[in-house]
Amino acid sequence: MKTYISLWPAHAAELPFPRNLAILGSTGSIGVSALSVVARHPDLFRVVALAGGRNARRLAEQATALRPGVLAVLDAATAAELKALLPVGYHPEILVGPTAFETVAALPGADLVLSAIVGAAGFLPTLAAARAGKRIALANKESLVLGGRLIRAACRASGAVILPVDSEHNAIFQALAGHDGAHDDTGNDTELAKLLLTASGGPFHGRDAAFLAAVTPAQALSHPNWSMGPKISVDSATLMNKGLEVIEACHLFGLPVAQVEVLVHPQSIVHSLVEYVDGSQLAHLGLPDMRIPIAHCLCYPKRVSLGMPRLNLASAASLTFEAPDETLFPCLGLAKAAYGASHSHPVALNAANEVAVDLFLQGRIGFLDIPRLIEAALARHTALPENCGAAELLAADAATRRETLASVSNETTRPAQPTREE
Ligand SMILES: NC(=O)c1ccc[n+]([C@@H]2O[C@H](COP(=O)([O-])OP(=O)(O)OC[C@H]3O[C@@H](n4cnc5c(N)ncnc54)[C@H](OP(=O)(O)O)[C@@H]3O)[C@@H](O)[C@H]2O)c1
Repeated sequence: MKTYISLWPAHAAELPFPRNLAILGSTGSIGVSALSVVARHPDLFRVVALAGGRNARRLAEQATALRPGVLAVLDAATAAELKALLPVGYHPEILVGPTAFETVAALPGADLVLSAIVGAAGFLPTLAAARAGKRIALANKESLVLGGRLIRAACRASGAVILPVDSEHNAIFQALAGHDGAHDDTGNDTELAKLLLTASGGPFHGRDAAFLAAVTPAQALSHPNWSMGPKISVDSATLMNKGLEVIEACHLFGLPVAQVEVLVHPQSIVHSLVEYVDGSQLAHLGLPDMRIPIAHCLCYPKRVSLGMPRLNLASAASLTFEAPDETLFPCLGLAKAAYGASHSHPVALNAANEVAVDLFLQGRIGFLDIPRLIEAALARHTALPENCGAAELLAADAATRRETLASVSNETTRPAQPTREE
């Protein structure tokens, strides 16, 4: 039986309301959008835990409004700041440090966990939620890129369910409704032909190499359609976001990478499509607002009103589609190659990307250095054994980060910060 069937078993529909919700990454873009869904439907949720990184002020505001019994932050200084900001008479348990997020993910009192920490830091908490049999609304795509095999196995063992928050995967999940997944003797789906992931193309769609060589972090951060955190915004500009999503789709839907196609669709109205063997393509459309897929996951299978404008196709601009330019934006091809190379090459891909994006945002490398550093990291990586565990994957992640940083430090000084502005 294919993977997506086991991730969405029959009991996926059965979680009663109000749902006990724990949010990992509540202070980020996805976390804030999720809390706006909760605020609109307070009867459907009890927020039992909120976890942020270092934004004590925002976490204190959220906690003051919702009074969950458990909070988690990255370090002791943030915890002290948070404690000082909480109102008199409210004394939640405050967990501190990286393992705090795993504790929150597996809290006995939580039945629905939104995994919305950014980057590889979300992997162990997502794995903990999967091992604890939770309903997981998964925004943190890096978890599956890093350890998709382990997370899928944990879901199968515990009965945990993953619902994809990423708008493209959420769209595919919805377009698969009613598909019963007929399979041949070797477990291959005989009716699903391919998945078509749409990509906005990011802020540099249509630009040339000379332009890309001089773009600034501010330009990369200003996405034309979506409002997102800084890391995913840069990933969107390089098309690495789409590369990570191809890997995420392979894990979630159990298809080989050759059956996952990317289409550039600058209007971000069609969020993705499924093609069946009879030639039918089923698409999911909507305005580009993450509250839609978040609400779908948090309330599934119930649909709720979000009190926001809805798509009006009659007045929408024309919808266009084209193939991605993988020469100008090599990150997409690097991600597909990493997934094909071994199950651990995506770990190196992701780690090098996180380091490179961080260096780019600091102005220490140029935009085109991002794929260059990732390609070098993939060339250095030696595949880990198929049956390796989380510790080995994280050791490879750490080694790639060290090597990538060292490779930059060893290079001759580059022009510090590109200067071109729009
Ligand atoms: N934003 C979107 O529209 C969107 C769409 C699809 C998928 N996603 C995925 O959702 C995830 C979150 O994205 P985002 O845009 O919401 O990111 P974001 O705005 O940067 O927020 C990241 C969250 O993670 C926390 N965090 C950062 N480093 C951490 C660490 N080491 N340990 C624990 N928590 C940490 C941050 O805490 P502090 O801010 O308090 O430090 C914040 O709560 C990413 O995996 C992204 O790919 C996002």
